[in-house]
Amino acid sequence: MSQHLLLLLVILAISPIPGDSQDSALSPTPEEPEDLDCGRPEPSARIVGGSDAQPGSWPWQVSLQQSGGHICGGSLVAPSWVLSAAHCFVKNGTLEPATEWSVLLGVRSQDGLLDGAHVRAVAAILVPDNYSSVELGADLALLRLASPAQLGPAVRPVCLPRASHRFAHGAACWATGWGDIQEAEHLPLPWVLQEVELRLLGEDACQCLYSRPGPFNLTFQLLPGMLCAGYPGGRRDTCQGDSGGPLVCEEGGRWFQAGITSFGFGCGRRNRPGVFTAVAPYEAWIREQVIGSEPGPAFPTQSWEPQSGPWEPRDENCTIALPECGKAPRPETWPWEAQVMVPGSRPCHGALVSESWVLAPASCFLDPINSDGPPRDRDNWRVLLPSRPRAELVARLVLHENASWDDASDLALLQLRAPVNLSTAPRPVCLPHPEHYFLPRSRCRLALWGRGEPAPGPNSRLEAELLSGWWCHCLYGRQGASVPPPGDAPHALCPAYQEEEEAGRCWNYSHRSLLCQEEGTWFLAGISDLSSGCLRPRVFHPLQTHGPWISHVTGGAYLEDQLNWDWGPEGEETETRTCPPHTEHGACGLRPEPAVMGVLWPWLAEVHVAGDRVCTGILVAPGWVLAATHCVLRPGSTTVPYVEVYLGRAGDSPLPQGHQVSRLVISIRLPRHLGLRPRLALLELSSRVEPSPSALPICLHPGGIPVGASCWVLGWKDPRDRVPVAAAVSILMPRLCHCLYQGILPPGTLCVLYSEGQEDRCEVTSAPPLLCLTKRRSWVLTGMALPGSRELFAAIGPEEAWISQTVGEAHFLPPSGYPHWPPEGSDLCPPDMASAPGSPQAAVFLLLLTPLMQG
Ligand SMILES: *[C@@H]1O[C@H](CO)[C@@H](O)[C@H](O)[C@H]1NC(C)=O
Ligand SMILES: *[C@@H]1O[C@H](CO)[C@@H](O)[C@H](O)[C@H]1NC(C)=O
Ligand SMILES: *[C@@H]1O[C@H](CO)[C@@H](O)[C@H](O)[C@H]1NC(C)=O
Ligand SMILES: *[C@@H]1O[C@H](CO)[C@@H](O)[C@H](O)[C@H]1NC(C)=O
Ligand SMILES: *[C@@H]1O[C@H](CO)[C@@H](O)[C@H](O)[C@H]1NC(C)=O
Ligand SMILES: *[C@@H]1O[C@H](CO)[C@@H](O)[C@H](O)[C@H]1NC(C)=O
Ligand SMILES: *[C@@H]1O[C@H](CO)[C@@H](O)[C@H](O)[C@H]1NC(C)=O
Repeated sequence: MSQHLLLLLVILAISPIPGDSQDSALSPTPEEPEDLDCGRPEPSARIVGGSDAQPGSWPWQVSLQQSGGHICGGSLVAPSWVLSAAHCFVKNGTLEPATEWSVLLGVRSQDGLLDGAHVRAVAAILVPDNYSSVELGADLALLRLASPAQLGPAVRPVCLPRASHRFAHGAACWATGWGDIQEAEHLPLPWVLQEVELRLLGEDACQCLYSRPGPFNLTFQLLPGMLCAGYPGGRRDTCQGDSGGPLVCEEGGRWFQAGITSFGFGCGRRNRPGVFTAVAPYEAWIREQVIGSEPGPAFPTQSWEPQSGPWEPRDENCTIALPECGKAPRPETWPWEAQVMVPGSRPCHGALVSESWVLAPASCFLDPINSDGPPRDRDNWRVLLPSRPRAELVARLVLHENASWDDASDLALLQLRAPVNLSTAPRPVCLPHPEHYFLPRSRCRLALWGRGEPAPGPNSRLEAELLSGWWCHCLYGRQGASVPPPGDAPHALCPAYQEEEEAGRCWNYSHRSLLCQEEGTWFLAGISDLSSGCLRPRVFHPLQTHGPWISHVTGGAYLEDQLNWDWGPEGEETETRTCPPHTEHGACGLRPEPAVMGVLWPWLAEVHVAGDRVCTGILVAPGWVLAATHCVLRPGSTTVPYVEVYLGRAGDSPLPQGHQVSRLVISIRLPRHLGLRPRLALLELSSRVEPSPSALPICLHPGGIPVGASCWVLGWKDPRDRVPVAAAVSILMPRLCHCLYQGILPPGTLCVLYSEGQEDRCEVTSAPPLLCLTKRRSWVLTGMALPGSRELFAAIGPEEAWISQTVGEAHFLPPSGYPHWPPEGSDLCPPDMASAPGSPQAAVFLLLLTPLMQG
């Protein structure tokens, strides 16, 4: 989490090395007369959301440079003194040497110098003793120039406020700088000084905004000596590279420096105004540092008397700004839905992302034959928006640079010829910032995207819940890859639909977008590839990585902070961080550890036989369930019963995530064995199931027992309510098994020993399976219970050939790395074994001791 804090707590400087610059103040002199004319720019005319400053408007603005590069801003406060921020010079607790710095004065754009522009070396950098880090305050610094600046129209000092100076809350002040113009977007050439008007916020109002969890659930405690300026609604702000620059307010014809740009949480975000070092409280410190310097900074008296009493105007309520995007009166009537009409093709569905920009798939506009040429006929394109009387004209099409080869970047932005008036409709959708983390189980919906077909029927479910990142990454091919933690861009977003597809409804080949809701606000979370065949799309490319591109092109799309931080009881820690390997047929045997979903075993099937009894079944492939023959087919019966299979449910209680699946069994396959009655049956389902957390095949182990695995018998406590329970067991070596049961065992039988107190957990008439969790975190099916036995299981390994011939997609793990039984020693059984079968625990104990005694 700390890297996100760093990421979002934009310390508005760029990085630079240690030394001694503590030039101590010189001989004390009496307070100097305030004869320096300050705060009066020559042409008395007049960042994020800012604009180019007129030449000479801000003659005190300087650029602080290291190796010829701009690092921070600063303000000239006296011919030999520049005020800036401490964090520009203190790195890792050490003040950098003054000799590395130079001050550029009288410039407006960083590459073309104006008349009067000049450079000064820095003689000393002074920082308050108790400065430690920006968020703890005292973030100011004074730089003594090696020689005084040449004052002139382009270079003049600003006035400093006295400690008693009060700036009116709500006053319109100006911040200036050469910093980034948006998060992660540098000021373009020719680096013209930017200015932005910001309103001073009272401490209470600012603290109120910062007390509400913002990006990454961060709150912040404002400290004395800090000052906020900006807007609850965000958008206009200082950003990286502006640090140390001035926030100035005009009073009585003079400009006073109220603040020093210090830090922000992101740039221009809602409810996160910029934080500045208040200058007035540091009057004494500043005066102390400049003693003996003539002329020193000017501290003119305030031209009007601050009133006594509570300074904060009473009407400055804590007005938390709400998102202006993403509000839909009813789901599916999306106020941002835009249809781009291109003559000669079907309408292309996109989304309004700002007053004048529509986001849509680039593939709608890429001519497959002439993909190099620009799309033609743009004058004839029209955009239909909800509640607009006429279609909009298109001024510009900007294709994503990677659109033609990367499905995840199949995006284009269309600029409308005239901006639309935003209201209930049209209204833009919210876009996620790059660090957005859509929580597992977020409520989402599918929307039309590109040349999508409408949903196949009125009852088609367009609602979904997001799967957790672990499931999404592990199900869809990211095997062995570590799952990105919350806050890192996910590789994919996966919706889980509440029920399976209705038969016969086809989605055809169509794109969809994924809209997810947080606190009643909809975000455009992802875009799908072409859906395959008749299935709803399962995997979406996250849109959040494209936020910077979209805001760069549009200069003001509605990127919105995450609004919901409620992880719920499950939390994030419950997910394992890597995915088990897949088999050649895809994912099998996945289950998060510890299980987030308590009762959920994705491969556990209820096999309902002729409405009479319920057997345990295990999904081994998308269309096949393995069960114990004796449970499904009653001895002596010659007819095949009517069998139904349910997945994704635990008896009558619905599972917290995913959907229920039901299928008919259309055939029952048994292995051909001479003599013996086959013990395993494969049930063929009427149609395949889609892999999901509620219906996922288990992996199969080719013979022997996986070394180092832990094993369980998975069953039901009571076959009537069918709440799954797992009993921990150890699988005994064949010799132990043989001795315990004195040769009465048919070949291919496993016997188990229950852990202390676990014997009675599962009921046995439903023929529970024996499962193991391998060292590589895949669950494997090892056996199915024999009739009437709690300890004996039919091994799966010996039936590998039959299973893989019958079920082509059965997930047998590769045999490498899994030796079969360890070599065995003596075949002798201890003589008194036969007399002790009633107590297998005691007998096994005896047996395990035997080799030691023999040695
Ligand atoms: C920061 O300071 C600590 C202790 O003073 C030192 O161990 C560490 O290496 C420094 N880090 C950098 C990046 O200079
Ligand atoms: C630094 O010291 C000054 C004067 O002692 C005090 O007013 C100020 O609050 C201190 N600031 C911090 C960040 O400790
Ligand atoms: C978010 O912050 C609030 C208040 O600080 C806290 O109670 C909550 O647990 C945090 N949530 C997360 C997921 O960190
Ligand atoms: C501030 O809040 C008070 C009490 O909730 C309310 O009466 C007043 O109208 C609010 N003022 C503004 C400017 O919203
Ligand atoms: C396009 O792809 C390249 C290479 O993967 C990547 O570096 C670049 O950032 C992408 N462009 C955008 C706008 O995402
Ligand atoms: C935009 O809408 C507002 C409120 O509905 C209205 O007052 C204003 O005149 C509209 N502006 C334009 C340009 O239509
Ligand atoms: C969807 O595809 C099916 C089969 O290819 C076709 O019969 C049907 O007409 C298509 N539906 C639409 C709306 O195009």
